Amino acid sequence: AARAYHERVVDHYDNPRNVGSFDKNDPTVGTGLVGAPACGDVMKLQIKVDDATGKIVDACFKTFGCGSAIASSSVATEWVKGKHMEEVLSIKNTEIAKHLSLPPVKLHCSMLAEDAIKAAVKDYEAKKAKLEAGNAETTQTEKVDGA
Ligand code: FES
Repeated sequence: AARAYHERVVDHYDNPRNVGSFDKNDPTVGTGLVGAPACGDVMKLQIKVDDATGKIVDACFKTFGCGSAIASSSVATEWVKGKHMEEVLSIKNTEIAKHLSLPPVKLHCSMLAEDAIKAAVKDYEAKKAKLEAGNAETTQTEKVDGA
């Protein structure tokens, strides 16, 4: 028998929170772009991080996928806002699935959201490390030049 979608899925599908894009070249932005090989659905989740505290001040997403994937990304953006980057790494897809009462066949849709959060944090950290390495180089060069 067909299982009716939980009202939370319908709500997040009809009124998705935080749909949009940040500039991926902004150094305070982390972008997670992930795909589900099984169905070909794609999710992009972005976070904006406060450099000083490591807290996520804003989040947005764009999902090309099924209703459960859209609902999962919508929930994910709500959950990461205001949290520390370290904290959101422990968000499990099973928690999202439980919150939305997703049926087992839709578990992979919530997995996209977990993966996208992790990928976004990783992207932000990689960017930051690169930037810091670049700054260190510049400082060194300046010292050499000044000597
Ligand atoms: Fe693939 Fe939902 S069916 S993400």
